[in-house]
Amino acid sequence: MPVTSSCRICSGTVREFLDFGRQPLSDAFVTPEDLAEEFFFTLAVGICESCTMVQLMEEVPRDRMFHQGYPYLSSGSAVMREHFQAIAKRFLATECTGPDPFIVELGSNDGTMLGVIAESGVRHLGVEPSGGVADLAAAKGVQVRKDFFEEETAADILADEGPADVIYAANTLCHIPYMESILRGVDTLLAHSGIFVFEDPYFADILERTSFDQIYDEHFFFFTVRSVQEMARRFGFELVDAERLPVHGGEVRYTLARPGARPVSQAVTDLLAEESAAGITEPATLAGLASRVELIRERLPALLGELRERGERVVGYGATAKSATVTNYCGIGPELVPFVCDTTVGKQGRLTPGAHIPVRSPEAFRDPYPSYALLFAWNHAQEIMEKEKEFREAGGKWILYTPEVHVV
Ligand code: SAM
Ligand code: TMP
Ligand code: ZN
Repeated sequence: MPVTSSCRICSGTVREFLDFGRQPLSDAFVTPEDLAEEFFFTLAVGICESCTMVQLMEEVPRDRMFHQGYPYLSSGSAVMREHFQAIAKRFLATECTGPDPFIVELGSNDGTMLGVIAESGVRHLGVEPSGGVADLAAAKGVQVRKDFFEEETAADILADEGPADVIYAANTLCHIPYMESILRGVDTLLAHSGIFVFEDPYFADILERTSFDQIYDEHFFFFTVRSVQEMARRFGFELVDAERLPVHGGEVRYTLARPGARPVSQAVTDLLAEESAAGITEPATLAGLASRVELIRERLPALLGELRERGERVVGYGATAKSATVTNYCGIGPELVPFVCDTTVGKQGRLTPGAHIPVRSPEAFRDPYPSYALLFAWNHAQEIMEKEKEFREAGGKWILYTPEVHVV
């Protein structure tokens, strides 16, 4: 029986193409006392037959994911800190040229991007429901509203501050199933000539890299230029630019404006043509992804099992949200990977969701080095491999599982 759901953009039929079964919340790092209450849901992904939006089949209630204890920190990577500094400077140079500009960020997290705007003295507001990370931003001098952005929030902000010249959201819009409320909110708050800029993992990159671990509770939508263009049109906006980004394993930064307010860049036309030539939403392409994922599910635990038989030590590197899909789908627990190291203090001393692998600080990685490191944070590979040069020099090897299982 084909499994279907209703599209959160156009109400069309969403047809499932990949099912990971029961999965935990990817950022719910647990203590042994919490184990009895761990929350699970069915992680499966489908594509809308009408508007082509790729999306999860089941929605997790937002308060279960984003709350006071939400552990992810934007500032955890030096590359990402530079990335956010660059976009902040671009906004300051190109969009903040009027008398009293105003920038709003949705999902401002620990204030890595807005901190730069705050330092420049430009009026700004972060909208961030996760209280712990919002407090970190406030401590940097960033103005934050602890709230979920949606239509009502937008009306409130407009009443308090007036219209926004820029509304920006990084790795946040794809987390939000209630898109109609968001885009109505953007319509309410955005100045007539303003722009709504958002960047999220690009579905074409997920296909190309078989990065199936981008699929987890928080990533509800998997955007393509085509589906975003349709979504924009449906809610009264125009997609005026699409820029490929190398971060987080491949993303696209989309710029929406009011129809006719800004010229449409050649990049939009080019990427639409590329997507259509590559057939990224064709059933055969999606079935191909599903079979490559199945192969990884066989090979990764097999490799880890062989290494264990040979008495080799393997440590996980980066307790990413993404790793929840890998460990739980592939059946990898502490018997194959005794611990995973991560710089995030809030994750250390806890167990990874579902798989229950202990999380330890990066010092544990060096004490002593294992023979192999399973790189869950592969999207930060360059930064991490550079930082951990000595591991390689000591004979250590990295295990990667995208686009297929391999050792470097
Ligand atoms: N923008 C940061 C970055 O790219 O590093 C943080 C991304 S984090 C993966 C997603 C953030 O979105 C979380 O901090 C979460 O609390 C926030 N979030 C979730 N739903 C939201 C909503 N409706 N409005 C604003 N922020 C939201
Ligand atoms: P992300 O893939 O969602 O950005 O998460 C990356 C995780 O990896 C986050 O928990 C921080 C961790 N990390 C390290 O432990 N060491 C590092 O050098 C980097 C860049 C990230
Ligand atoms: Zn649809």
